Amino acid sequence: MRGRLITLEGGEGAGKSTQVRFVCEWLEQRGRNVCVTREPGGTPQAEAIRQLVLSDWGEGVTPQTEVLLMYAARSAHLQHKIEPRLAAGDDVVCDRFADSSYAYQGAKGVSDQHLLALESLVLAGRKPDLTLLLDLPPDIGLARAHARGQVNRFEAETLGFMTQVRQRFLQRASDEPGRIAVIDASRSLEQVQAQIAAALEVRL
Ligand code: TMP
Repeated sequence: MRGRLITLEGGEGAGKSTQVRFVCEWLEQRGRNVCVTREPGGTPQAEAIRQLVLSDWGEGVTPQTEVLLMYAARSAHLQHKIEPRLAAGDDVVCDRFADSSYAYQGAKGVSDQHLLALESLVLAGRKPDLTLLLDLPPDIGLARAHARGQVNRFEAETLGFMTQVRQRFLQRASDEPGRIAVIDASRSLEQVQAQIAAALEVRL
């Protein structure tokens, strides 16, 4: 059986890390070999870019610099990890992928036309087989992120910005309902995992 690419998306504090583990266990229980990874990052080169892009350099980062770094990391990640693992028949579970660039860098002003051009250049037709969008009101998500302790410059964003990010994720989900399952992440852990299990059952 060929490998499938499953991505998890959502705003800050949506609980992606916990649910990534849940998805991996669900697949492993069904006999799949699973590669778990994240963006930006996932390979030595891409993790180095992650350090660069998440740090606060005190001089601001233009949306253009940011989107190019995200896609530079994604290109290395696809070539050195995602594509080889899918070709070997493994399922790849990725914490964030191109929909995050669409939502975050789009909300910072990068046009949809430029985002699509980068997708076409870097993804070369690769799309996730399934995307789980963990949807949460941004005030709850930001409060959770802040409660975890020190925040990076993305987690320090305003409620207004995170509201736009959420809208862009939901827009993408309504454009591609066959690929993106919207999960109500404001529910209890058990209820969130029941929604995820149902989406995996039906859509994979
Ligand atoms: P994380 O906190 O989920 O590990 O992600 C790090 C931050 O990077 C998160 O705040 C969202 C941001 N991000 C983008 O802005 N664009 C992207 O394409 C990706 C993958 C992440």
